[in-house]
Amino acid sequence: MSCYLEILDVAKSYGRVKALDGVTLAVRGGEIYGLLGPNGAGKTTLLKVIVGLLKPDMGTARICGVDVTVDRESALKHVGYVPENPVTFENLTMREFFEFVASLKGIPKDVFEERVETYVSLFQLEESVRKRMGKLSRGTVQKALVVASLMAEPKVLVMDEPTSGMDPEAQHVFREVVKKFADKGAALIISSHQLHAIERFATRIGIINRGKLLAEGTLDEVRRLAEAGFNSTLEEVFLKLVKSH
Ligand SMILES: Nc1ncnc2c1ncn2[C@@H]1O[C@H](COP(=O)(O)OP(=O)(O)OP(=O)(O)O)[C@@H](O)[C@H]1O
Ligand SMILES: [Mg+2]
Repeated sequence: MSCYLEILDVAKSYGRVKALDGVTLAVRGGEIYGLLGPNGAGKTTLLKVIVGLLKPDMGTARICGVDVTVDRESALKHVGYVPENPVTFENLTMREFFEFVASLKGIPKDVFEERVETYVSLFQLEESVRKRMGKLSRGTVQKALVVASLMAEPKVLVMDEPTSGMDPEAQHVFREVVKKFADKGAALIISSHQLHAIERFATRIGIINRGKLLAEGTLDEVRRLAEAGFNSTLEEVFLKLVKSH
């Protein structure tokens, strides 16, 4: 069964700063939604609302039909999350971190072992998996967080700049893995500043600025909305939209 992610008219302020100002969007199973926007646009705030880490002042977020603001626990059963500023468990080895995640998610031991082996090999973590999280490089920590978010094979993936710090090969692996999740029916929302990568693998794009969604759709659709040329790059579309708002 695939799942649906809905954000309905969400607003959130931090004091006088309106981080989100009436955002509505939906991500269907099988979609990879690329959430783009300048620094401070509201991406992290929106993703935190989706996973119930922040309560919106207005509006709702629903995961597989369950309102996160009402029943966070059931809503989050289906979700994998990569946070922007991870609280990593400095003194756990990467493997212990994975074991911790597996125990929270109730993943059986044999399934866990199989998944860890697969991802350790895909992301070339053979040496790092034995090291303490606090001693790993930034890109390696990101790999661990991505693997942790995938561990329970969630139906919805919420990823805040998941590939930041990852080397090109790891970014490629990331895209391949994530596409497989979408092919199996997962709904994905991924914030990023890596426009060249998003251009190639997101099925839909949303561009947010100052808490408002400026444009949304396929690359062709956002080109049209931005009145940009038919062969303009996502970067050109992005800059045009953001500069005019
Ligand atoms: N804890 C907080 N307290 C006060 N203001 C905050 C807080 N978190 C975010 N903000 C403000 O809310 C706005 C949106 O921030 P947010 O982190 O959602 O942006 P972002 O799009 O994720 O940016 P970036 O690309 O830099 O990660 C910004 O103006 C930011 O300064
Ligand atoms: Mg952010």
